[in-house]
Amino acid sequence: MKAAFVIVALLGVAACTLGGATYSEQPNREWDDFKFQFDKIYGDESEEQLRMLIFQDNNKIIDAHNERWAAGEESYEMGVNQFTDMLPSEISKGFANNDDEHPIEDLEPEPNDYLNEVGDLDLDMPVKVNWTQLGAVTPVMNQGHFNNSWAFAAAGVVESHQFIKSGRLVALSKQNLVDCCGKHNKLTVNALICIKRMRGIDTEASYPYRGITGKCQFQRKLIGAKVKKIIQVRPGNENELAYNVAKGPIAAVIPQAAIINYKSGVFHNSHCGQSPDFAVLIVGFGTCKNFGDYWIIKTSLGSTWGEKGYMRLARNKQNLCGITNRAYYPALY
Ligand SMILES: *[C@@H]1O[C@H](CO)[C@@H](O)[C@H](O)[C@H]1NC(C)=O
Ligand SMILES: *[C@@H]1O[C@H](CO)[C@@H](O)[C@H](O)[C@H]1NC(C)=O
Repeated sequence: MKAAFVIVALLGVAACTLGGATYSEQPNREWDDFKFQFDKIYGDESEEQLRMLIFQDNNKIIDAHNERWAAGEESYEMGVNQFTDMLPSEISKGFANNDDEHPIEDLEPEPNDYLNEVGDLDLDMPVKVNWTQLGAVTPVMNQGHFNNSWAFAAAGVVESHQFIKSGRLVALSKQNLVDCCGKHNKLTVNALICIKRMRGIDTEASYPYRGITGKCQFQRKLIGAKVKKIIQVRPGNENELAYNVAKGPIAAVIPQAAIINYKSGVFHNSHCGQSPDFAVLIVGFGTCKNFGDYWIIKTSLGSTWGEKGYMRLARNKQNLCGITNRAYYPALY
């Protein structure tokens, strides 16, 4: 509702400036830098005006937040990124993937895929884990302007579990999933089930990422991994999630509200919401002195976004951002 109002208001303002050149007369260095850095090309001048207004609006939010961050009142820093010229509603349409829908019925995981009791939790669980440091995580890629985070999370969790099992880190094909598994609801769990059904997923090297959906070109002789079973971590319990992350990275989903203006630090915002639509890979957890416990999260937003493509999200804050709600990992052959 609010976003819809804002876009109407902004369109109104943009329309008022047509012919008036209110903004174009003042050179705007930040705006030019932004367009250059993120390769932004707009349809026409009125679209550019609108984008610039959204950008300026977001910059006000960022500046006000960062004053509080500098004063030690916020646990994370905001910054300009590829979303700074977009409205939240556009981001959920264009970048996120509606990963809040339910998996289609025939792909529903079996009830016994769930882990057992919390009683399984090991008392001497580590206080921190970083699978990236342990060499179990492929480099961050950029999904571009496509709804493909689900494919990155699914390929990523298989890549890491394969490394843990076999000691080989092989990048797996996200395009394979986009082309062959995207006709089901675009969910990480469906992609994992799809890998199981195809009896493998090709390597990234043999089937590189393009972004747009094309014809399925899966070739069994080019596979890099095979999935035996998909396991969901029981939602709602962050200790249980940490216990499982200590054994290997886990695919999860967070709301797009968490990614919009994030730059660095431990993201904490009580307005994050619980309706996740952006798929990610949890690669570890830890604790920092000033801001407490966090999850380490790998995105598919490129290495210039956030902390080199990663973010830290507050942990043990009542399932903030619904981090435990859709957490999956595979058992491999
Ligand atoms: C992303 O998905 C939504 C709905 O699933 C769709 O409306 C939108 O056009 C898609 N965006 C892109 C860039 O594919
Ligand atoms: C995890 O490890 C990577 C690679 O060593 C490092 O760059 C990153 O800062 C670590 N993350 C945290 C939160 O410690």
